[in-house]
Amino acid sequence: MTMILALESSCDETACAVVKDGCEILSSVVSSQINVHTQYGGVVPEVASRIHVENISTVVTEAVKRSGVSMDDIDAVAFTQGPGLIGSLHVGVQAAKTLAWEYHKPLIPIDHMTGHIYANRFAIDHDLRFPLLALVISGGHTQLVWMDNDWDFKVIGTTMDDAIGEAYDKVSRVLGTGYPGGPIIDKMAKLGKPHYKLPTPRVEGKYDFSFSGLKTAVTQMIAREEKAGNEIVKEDVAYAFQETALNMLIGRTLKAVEDLHPAMVITAGGVAANSRLRVMLAEGMKKYPDIELSQPPIKYCTDNAAMIGASGYVAYKHKLFGTFDVAADPGLMMPGEE
Ligand code: KG4
Ligand code: ZN
Repeated sequence: MTMILALESSCDETACAVVKDGCEILSSVVSSQINVHTQYGGVVPEVASRIHVENISTVVTEAVKRSGVSMDDIDAVAFTQGPGLIGSLHVGVQAAKTLAWEYHKPLIPIDHMTGHIYANRFAIDHDLRFPLLALVISGGHTQLVWMDNDWDFKVIGTTMDDAIGEAYDKVSRVLGTGYPGGPIIDKMAKLGKPHYKLPTPRVEGKYDFSFSGLKTAVTQMIAREEKAGNEIVKEDVAYAFQETALNMLIGRTLKAVEDLHPAMVITAGGVAANSRLRVMLAEGMKKYPDIELSQPPIKYCTDNAAMIGASGYVAYKHKLFGTFDVAADPGLMMPGEE
């Protein structure tokens, strides 16, 4: 039995969790700063790091208390080393070092994106199956990742410009519907109709993506409609944007599935919470009944520390320990990523 205490503070969630054997969540505490950042229309890094400092001790104390285990039972302390906001990351790194020092535990530095990938351990009752294709979609990343084995990551496709989560957030800002845009557009699009037409973005690489042109097309379409004196139907804009963006994401993912035939397909990251994406991918994968599809539980798609515990467990098995001079790395890349 392996018990990991995990910390996550890369953006605007202060989180701590205790995870057993990489798959059983004994506790998961997430203190979100969304209400604070909403008023600015996005995350303000200085404000985020200050709130992490204020909250982290309470979050850790609460996670240990709720887990029902004591620090004696913990085998290692895992933490997000990067990527993310430098000031926010520092807080989690320092808290992890303090706990490791005080309780004589090994430290495990974790790449946040591997956390999103291993969050799938909370959706299935067995280990991930390889070779595996992961659609990694968050506020900062849009990648197709190929894994031949555990902890072996190869990026086979990526965005040429904006990340998909960033595009959702920007479109919501243009519509004046608030931050973070993903869940808002997700909800609005359900009420939308196929009324507006947006151009399909063009990308050369067969597994690559592009979203900045789509965002510009939405902005220009709104300006055109306003100039013509037409009322903007926000739900229909949300629908048009989402269908176009998801067609690109799912289309390229299914192309990779067809070409490479993995044993398992998974999604990872905040955008994996999208209700339409989950249905579209499940529909598309019906053509491949021998390939297992896993999508993380919605609660563990967006940032949390349980996923760092799941990834931390795999890193622990691989003895990937850090030293006390380990530092936050805002531009950290996954092992194998170039
Ligand atoms: O993984 P995450 O919590 O943080 C990063 O690592 O970036 O992802 C945050 C992103 C935001 O851009 C947010 O708008 C998006 O995930 N998101 C969604 C949904 N929920 C969160 N996008 C589309 N539909 C959703 N339901
Ligand atoms: Zn994330």
